[in-house]
Amino acid sequence: MSTIYIHWPFCLSKCNYCDFNSVATDGLIDFDFWLRLYRAASLRFFDDFYKGEQITSIYFGGGTPSLLTPSFISGIITLICDRCRISDNPEITLEANPKTIDLPKANGFRSAGINRLSIGVQSLIDADLKILGRIHDAEEAINCVLEMSEIFDNLSIDMIYNRPGQKLESWIDELSTALSSFSIQHISLYELIIEDGTAIKKMIDDGVLPATNRGSDFIEATWKTAEDFGFHKYEISNFAKPGFEGRHNISYWRYEDYYGIGPGAHSRIGRHNGGKLAIEQVSDINDWINFVENALPPEIIELSEKDEFNERLIMGLRAEVGIDLDHNFLDHNKIQFLLENSYIMLREGRVVLTNDGFMRLNLIVEYLSSK
Ligand SMILES: C[S@@+](CC[C@H](N)C(=O)[O-])C[C@H]1O[C@@H](n2cnc3c(N)ncnc32)[C@H](O)[C@@H]1O
Ligand code: SF4
Repeated sequence: MSTIYIHWPFCLSKCNYCDFNSVATDGLIDFDFWLRLYRAASLRFFDDFYKGEQITSIYFGGGTPSLLTPSFISGIITLICDRCRISDNPEITLEANPKTIDLPKANGFRSAGINRLSIGVQSLIDADLKILGRIHDAEEAINCVLEMSEIFDNLSIDMIYNRPGQKLESWIDELSTALSSFSIQHISLYELIIEDGTAIKKMIDDGVLPATNRGSDFIEATWKTAEDFGFHKYEISNFAKPGFEGRHNISYWRYEDYYGIGPGAHSRIGRHNGGKLAIEQVSDINDWINFVENALPPEIIELSEKDEFNERLIMGLRAEVGIDLDHNFLDHNKIQFLLENSYIMLREGRVVLTNDGFMRLNLIVEYLSSK
């Protein structure tokens, strides 16, 4: 079982905190040109690498894929269905920015095959949306969620916490409002990461905004609030009503294969003799156009067994899927130590982090991956 990720790199403007592979556009996009390009890129990629296994989910991420038209989405989904073996009832997600989707467009996406929508809400406070550099205000975000919940019965929102100057009590009020007033089945709650080179980093460095501290109190209160409202934590930043866990991301955390298409998209593809290929398409948009138009080869790395183990750790330990206790690279003395200190538990033959362990995720990954 594998999944497909389509990366759309354009946004209406660049948010202050974002270092994803995305660039601002004036919105004047030649969709016919881009659809031809994505079709060519997909066909070639599947011809070269697809092994005929079942595809269980498709994810349109970005960037802002809600800038795309329903007919573009339909064109890509049709191509994938023609070329690949799709499972019954695949999960097909589209990420949306509230400023770029309305009812007619959402209905169009639904008819094109999108059955899960993930809206970037980020905050319900206008002043904080400004700090984050979002192009919508709180009212627009709220109206967007209310409207989209009429169309999608598998709806997720993203929010960001531990923003500069944010008080814990105010955040928990804000989160509780979102969880109690929206009809959503899933929520991603990300602690703000201040990435190098972003506008928010500069504002903090220049003293325009206060610095944030890594907040275990924020994390714990966020997890507890989500659980109190019936959203089960199945990964450090992802919470779902029972049965609505994002299947696409679970597949990443299980370290299953995925085919990534678009500027900077990554793939992990198992080989017939075992082992995996890591493939990355060029990230610069003009280079990517050149890469597709001239059928240039992508960058391919054969992962060593140790590389694979390290990736398995990083992906699996983030989530409740954990990793297989029988993995031959796992040092059982270290597992014993982590068990004795209650950082991990064993569940159905798998190593899963406890909440104390999740707080030390990076340290534990480093500990288990070192000799
Ligand atoms: C590709 S965006 C989602 C869709 C759309 N582009 C939008 O922003 O509305 C993925 C999500 O990652 C989160 N994110 C991005 N950069 C982050 C950062 N530096 N710290 C925390 N969360 C971040 C945001 O919540 C964002 O919604
Ligand atoms: S809209 Fe999303 S992808 Fe685009 S800059 Fe903002 S957070 Fe990044």
